[in-house]
Amino acid sequence: MRAYLYKAFYTRLLGGYRKLFSQMPTKLKLNYSQDGLYTIHNTSFIEDSKFKHAYDMAKATGSWGGADVEWRVHISLWLSLQAARLEGDFVECGTNRGGIATAILTYLAESANFQSKTFYCFDTFEGLSKKYSSVSEYENTLGHYSDCFADVQKHFAKYPQVKLIKGAIPETLVDFKCSKVAFIHIDMNCAIPEIAAAEFFWPYLVSGGYMLLDDFAWEACGEQRQAFVEFAKKHQIEILWIPTGQGLIQKP
Ligand SMILES: C[S@@+](CC[C@H](N)C(=O)[O-])C[C@H]1O[C@@H](n2cnc3c(N)ncnc32)[C@H](O)[C@@H]1O
Repeated sequence: MRAYLYKAFYTRLLGGYRKLFSQMPTKLKLNYSQDGLYTIHNTSFIEDSKFKHAYDMAKATGSWGGADVEWRVHISLWLSLQAARLEGDFVECGTNRGGIATAILTYLAESANFQSKTFYCFDTFEGLSKKYSSVSEYENTLGHYSDCFADVQKHFAKYPQVKLIKGAIPETLVDFKCSKVAFIHIDMNCAIPEIAAAEFFWPYLVSGGYMLLDDFAWEACGEQRQAFVEFAKKHQIEILWIPTGQGLIQKP
């Protein structure tokens, strides 16, 4: 409920700004006004045909509640492209219907480096686990997720490099069998499994590899943010606060 009220408040507030901006000279008009991000900066990456194709394939999975999240996808794809050049596999903790994973698989379809990697996708495929989330995290997402495993299995059947791992993190982490990770995307909307995953994969992440946090700077995700601020302190690293709401860690 709190998260909903926050979102409603900011949407209203920013709607006011949007109106103000629309009356300003063209130079100051908003070029992007969605997914919590409002900017007058140039967004022509959205029109790039390779990006557009990957984005459309991702959106067709029915992810993101029908919302548009191009800038978050752009960041995920850019990082994936860099990580494909490193040693190690790809991991996503919190895959749901496979939006971001599909964007990455489509965008990097012609990268020989990427084709040789395994892409591990962890999820309950039925929403947050009551056992591993706080009462407010669990209640905030009630009704958002349903059992999607059969659909997801069918969707990823054409990608032999994808390994779906069904069940609740941290319990399923033992099913991870590899030695190096180049890129990990953490997106579970709750702090306990996100930190368990971050701690588990940290020793596997290669130097220069990326850990992308989907919810880090979202106002309503204070529990995750606090947990990752402590994670960063413990590992003596800095998190990059991205205006999309994402947070980024690069392994030293
Ligand atoms: C925001 S969605 C992920 C969105 C996805 N990355 C995309 O691109 O569309 C969050 C996902 O985390 C999963 N999840 C939450 N807690 C989990 C846990 N303890 N273990 C495994 N998956 C979990 C939920 O089932 C849900 O599918």
